[in-house]
Amino acid sequence: MRSHYCGEVDKNQIDQQVTLCGWVHRRRDHGGVIFIDLRDREGTVQVVFDPDTVEAFTNAEKVRSEYVLKIIGKVRKRPAGTENTNIRTGEIEVLGKSLEILNTSETPPFQLDEEEINEETRLRYRYIDLRRPMMQARFKLRAKAAKTLRRFLDDQGFMDIETPMLTKATPEGARDYLVPSRTHQGSFFALPQSPQLFKQLLMMAGMDRYYQIVRCFRDEDLRADRQPEFTQLDIEMSFIDETMLKNLMEDMIRQLFKECLDVDLPSVFPSMPYQEAINRYGSDKPDLRINLELTELTDVMKKVDFKVFAAPANDPQGRIAALKVPNGGDLSRKNIDDYTQFVGIYGAKGLAYIKVNELAKGKDGLQSPILKFLPDEVINEILAKTNAQDNDVIFFGADKAKIVNESLGALRLKIGQDRGLVEKTWKPLWVVDFPMFEWDEKEQRWAALHHPFTSPNIFDIEQLKANPNSALSRAYDMVLNGSEIGGGSIRIHKTEMQSTVFEILGIGAEEARQKFGFLLDALKYGCPPHGGIAFGLDRLIMLMSGATSIRDVIAFPKTQTAACPLTSAPSPANETQLRELNLCLRKIEKAE
Ligand code: AMO
Ligand code: AMP
Repeated sequence: MRSHYCGEVDKNQIDQQVTLCGWVHRRRDHGGVIFIDLRDREGTVQVVFDPDTVEAFTNAEKVRSEYVLKIIGKVRKRPAGTENTNIRTGEIEVLGKSLEILNTSETPPFQLDEEEINEETRLRYRYIDLRRPMMQARFKLRAKAAKTLRRFLDDQGFMDIETPMLTKATPEGARDYLVPSRTHQGSFFALPQSPQLFKQLLMMAGMDRYYQIVRCFRDEDLRADRQPEFTQLDIEMSFIDETMLKNLMEDMIRQLFKECLDVDLPSVFPSMPYQEAINRYGSDKPDLRINLELTELTDVMKKVDFKVFAAPANDPQGRIAALKVPNGGDLSRKNIDDYTQFVGIYGAKGLAYIKVNELAKGKDGLQSPILKFLPDEVINEILAKTNAQDNDVIFFGADKAKIVNESLGALRLKIGQDRGLVEKTWKPLWVVDFPMFEWDEKEQRWAALHHPFTSPNIFDIEQLKANPNSALSRAYDMVLNGSEIGGGSIRIHKTEMQSTVFEILGIGAEEARQKFGFLLDALKYGCPPHGGIAFGLDRLIMLMSGATSIRDVIAFPKTQTAACPLTSAPSPANETQLRELNLCLRKIEKAE
């Protein structure tokens, strides 16, 4: 139908005739002459109609925003002074000879170049929202990234293998989406939270290197970087160790950034133990672009009577840490009140601070509501440990370690943003040496920090059983600019170890057999040592494209309440479905 994409016509076509198809981006009447910016996937081009070409001009008078047109015209240089050097078509315009209206459009619910469009409206009319050049660019990047990743993995001998969507639960820490079975009344399929168990089975099946760009389903609380269905680049390899896998994955991500963004990532990604990340940044996914760190003060505060500090200092699960903001002296009372409110979101009961006005003046050079509660010796230690300078502000967090880490970790990011302290660069990082288990207070049992198929670094069964709290896991997360873009581990490949880990997690033999019997069986028939990783493709593209929400890189995403305004999903079941569900529930009740 067309000879060129609108956005690709340039001075090379001057004096040539072109046929273009696209949408009316803008129409302007300029005293007898009509200008139409015609838009398609590749950009816009200016088409001019003058009254001499009567039929085309009459048609051009009828068109409105988002009409779909086919135009034929001749490319010419734009008059001097009217060029637009920002776009490829900016030096030329097309003198329209014919204009065919392929389709009309009602007035769209929003203008494509509107800045603040309500997200609900954008999602409801997603097919219009996606026409916006910014959105088109994001999806081009996404397609290119997927292609680059596939090519890298294909070249490295990975096989693309599909795994089932109607399956059994895979524990990744979220709730399952269930699908009732018609043929097995009372039973349900679960949509996979990840292909974890299948990719391990593929290693047992001798496939050696597997990958898949695959949808995963998790019913969990949504945030800017989480969706109920999202896409993983899922990878598994046999006969490898952490170093091999990490090196290969670094190569892959480096190639991705080079080919898609022309960015050179560092030749080695640094590694940081989990505990160090928590101590220094209050987070297991630290954003290393911000040069602010926490200072440990728990021991120092043991000497203090002030109840806010004394209690957590003497609580084995407590922590006291400081966050120094260099040159934070300009922070007003209101700023500090706002930050106090902000850390409250994470459960912090307050935000004590010291303003360092002039060190040379000793205590008189400091300004703080808590000075009167602190012995001089402690004040000096705080100043020394934080290496405070004139005009700095020191914030304090004192509580259970979890609250201090989360609140000061978040404050560090917020202050970094607010004060322009985020370096404009890419900072990848491996976080390693995670604890194998964490104690779940509510459930009063151990939980797996990664997933229960991850290998611990203690290989002696008795030793592991005796000290689950000191076991680290052979897991690794890839973090980029403060976002966890991927995570994986070396897996357990021996039956006895797998059963032991289930046992420590409080999954009894019978439950283990019922839930994971197929895995335990498979482990008996020659399971190779293996390991892998999964990247959150949406998150990765979100970072690469500079989008602030994961929804901006998913064509048809769900809202924060896991609904789709476009299709109105989820929707009530029809009568037949409800009848079947009822039968199903009755059967379950009877069985109980
Ligand atoms: P994990 O649960 O860490 O590991 O998931 C891997 C990566 O997937 C992304 N991700 C998400 N992205 C968007 N929305 C979500 N709700 C969401 N949840 C996770 C993150 C995360 O790093 N089977 C293991 C991998 C393995 O061990 O090989 C797994 O799924 O970027
Ligand atoms: P209060 O004695 O509660 O008035 O608190 C004195 C100062 O300590 C105030 O600046 C509070 O913001 C701060 N503060 C109170 N609780 C905490 C806490 N858990 N962590 C850090 N600062 C706190």
